[in-house]
Order: sequence, then C-alpha cells, then structure tokens
Amino acid sequence: VEILSGVFEGKSTGAPIALLIRNRRQRSRDYTPFKDIFRPGHADFTFWQKYGIRDYKGGGRSSGRETAGRVASGAIARKILEDNGVKIRAFALEIGGVRAETLDLAEIEKNPVRTPDAQAAERMKQAILDAKEANNSVGGIVQLQVTGLPAGLGDPVFGKLDARLGGALLSIGAIKGFEVGDGFEVAQKTGRENNDEMKDGKFLTNHCGGVLGGISTGEPVVIRLAFKPTASISQVQQASDIHGANHELIVEGRHDPCIIPRAIPVVESMTALCLLDVWEIQARLKRISSCFDMFKTDA
Ligand SMILES: Cc1cc2nc3c(=O)[nH]c(=O)nc-3n(C[C@H](O)[C@H](O)[C@H](O)COP(=O)(O)O)c2cc1C
Repeated sequence: VEILSGVFEGKSTGAPIALLIRNRRQRSRDYTPFKDIFRPGHADFTFWQKYGIRDYKGGGRSSGRETAGRVASGAIARKILEDNGVKIRAFALEIGGVRAETLDLAEIEKNPVRTPDAQAAERMKQAILDAKEANNSVGGIVQLQVTGLPAGLGDPVFGKLDARLGGALLSIGAIKGFEVGDGFEVAQKTGRENNDEMKDGKFLTNHCGGVLGGISTGEPVVIRLAFKPTASISQVQQASDIHGANHELIVEGRHDPCIIPRAIPVVESMTALCLLDVWEIQARLKRISSCFDMFKTDA
C-alpha cells in the first residue's frame, strides 16, 4: 500500500488520506477464453446490459479485488471506534453445511477459515478441500458482533441503524442474505418468545440483535450474512455470449472454493465505515442543534 497524502511523520494531518494499492499479481490471460461469454454466477451479463462495453480481462468493479480499498479505509474507521470502546468482530459461523458450535472469539485468527470453534474449523477446512477436489465451491454464513456501541445510535425512519448496516453489508459481493438478531427465526416464534424483557433497567435477552426501531439498544449488535458459493468453478457449464450463441464453459484461473475467510475482514471494515458514518452524522446534528441553543433567549 502506498500512502499518497494525509499522513505526515506517522500522524494524520487532517487532509484526506489517499491510498494506492497496485494489483501486481494480475493474470489477465486467464480471462481470454471467455472474452464475449457471460460467466454463470458473475456480473458479466448485467454489466453488459448496463454499459454495453466490458473489459473482459478481469471482473473489474464486480471483482473481490475491489474490496481492498474498503479494508484499507475501514482500518482507520475501526481504530477510531476502538478508541471509543466499540469492538467489531466477524467470523465464519457455517461453511459448506458445517456449523460452529462453540463461540470462542480467541480462536478465530488461529485457524485459516476464521471460525470461533477449533473442532468445526477442521471440518470446515475439509468441506472446502472436498469442494476444490470436485472442482466445485461452497458458501456459508458469517456472523458479525458489535459490542460497546452506546444505546441511542441510528435514525428512526429512513436511516435506521439496521437499514444502514444492511445497505453497507449488502454492497459486498456474494452476500445474498442479511439477518438481524434472531432474523428469519422470528417468523416461527411467538411474541412472548421473541420479546426482550427488561429488569432493573437491563435487557434480559437480545433477540432483537441490539436494534429496536432502528436505534441501538446498547446490547451487542448481532448480524448474520449468507454468502453464496464462489461463482468461478472449473466445471463444464452452459453459458451464452454477447451474440446469444451457446457455449460450454469451464472457468479456469485462481479462485478460492470458498469466499468466506477472505470476506470476513471486508465485513468488519464495512461495518466500521458504516457505524462511524452514523456516529458522525449524529454528532454533527447535536453540534448544530447546540449552536442554535446559543441564540435562544429566555424571553
Ligand atoms: C472478498 C471477496 C472475494 C471474492 N472472490 C471471488 C472469487 O475468487 N471468485 C468468484 O467467482 N467470486 C468471488 N467473489 C464474489 C464475486 O465478486 C460476486 O459473486 C460476483 O461479482 C457477482 O455478484 P453477486 O454475487 O453479489 O451478485 C468475491 C467476493 C468478495 C467479497
């Protein structure tokens, strides 16, 4: 990463920080066989519909490479939030049908699949290797937990905290599902089972996932994200080209049979960027209203 501006002698100056990440390991020739063909599961068809022109030598803005900038800038947002007691952690809850049973956050960075369950890690790894062996891919679920967020953050109508986080997280490629708290399970529960009762001013449960009415409760914000299996697989698939002709296509190249371990830092970074935005907007509005207070008279 090259820092182009905004940092001087190890400190931010207040000027915008510009970062440059050069992709030195690109292999454009991998993409030549499907120059005019729409790869299944990729954005080739929709980009073609929208722009009518396509640089086929890579996924461009639909590629996971695009997320490097999010992680680099998210690191700064995360630092600011951590200084204010906010901790953001995402991990693999499920990969290829294997679910983590224990949630020991200290385990996450100790295994290559980034899961909080050391035993499940081995089975998740095996599920990925099996998919690779079969020239196939697997998806799974990422769980996100934010602790230390104060109660009262978020807007009540269009800028709901969960709506903003949903927008930020669903902007990451390959995410197809978003749940807050008990998520889709709430559909099968009764009100009595689902309500978070309070005692002595404290919540007894957190089914709502730390958000009520679009505003943070002060309890951990819990979100789950469903990731689809990697689209690029080295199997024969049917595909059309820009002229409508049919092809049998095999997508070769360097592709992970599971996106999740690499997407976890992206999820954490987008969360940090989104939360800092929400916090900043709220703080700015408070500052503006206190300015108006200065002009108020008792008369
Ligand atoms: C960090 C990251 C890495 C990714 N790597 C790959 C990959 O190696 N191969 C692939 O087919 N898709 C990969 N994707 C997913 C595609 O970018 C995405 O599925 C595709 O552009 C279609 O968009 P959609 O799935 O959001 O509809 C990656 C996504 C992320 C977030």
